[in-house]
Amino acid sequence: MGMSYNEKVIEYFKNPKNVGTLEEPDGYAKEGSPACGDMVSLYLKVDDETREITDIKFESYGCASNIATGSIITEMAKGKTIEEAKEITWQEAAEELGGLPDLKTHCSVLAVDALREAIRNYEERQGIGEEKRETTQEVVEERLTHVMNPMKGRDVMKTGLIDSVEVEDGSITVNVALESDHQFASAIKEDIEEKLEPRWDVEKVVVRFVGG
Ligand code: FES
Repeated sequence: MGMSYNEKVIEYFKNPKNVGTLEEPDGYAKEGSPACGDMVSLYLKVDDETREITDIKFESYGCASNIATGSIITEMAKGKTIEEAKEITWQEAAEELGGLPDLKTHCSVLAVDALREAIRNYEERQGIGEEKRETTQEVVEERLTHVMNPMKGRDVMKTGLIDSVEVEDGSITVNVALESDHQFASAIKEDIEEKLEPRWDVEKVVVRFVGG
């Protein structure tokens, strides 16, 4: 099994482009990989008229492949419109890097997911594109599949951590099957709020811990 990196990957890993954060980003995402538990954050500045990505930065808490793909996709996305940037695939990113070991596919998937999520976050704030849709219970449940359960390394929906969801007049209540003094309670609460608060029609997000 080949696990060695080519020179381009190593070069990008050692000297990644667009690393860091952006103040007051127009779009933001923090995504975790169910395969390994690693995380990546991505920040966007978007021109509201042309919908072009004018600036983009990422921070990776992942492996060399993830850092290299984060670097390459930020370079690929910069200057593109959000519609064009959405079309970037992990295969293209991996190809651009001259290939990644098979075992490392998920690392580039994670980087591309973070880009798509940051674009979606921008659309949610603006109430445009697909995110013009109303925030229903179904939408909330779908959004929660992007919140990781740190105890399991998979999302909170699939791992049964969400007891129930109520949506009413712009106010969302998420009941979490965990004690409120659990060591991960505040991190999970923050992640849930981060996924739901930006939506254009959401006024209030309440996260309640109802015990496991
Ligand atoms: Fe987790 Fe690469 S091993 S992102």
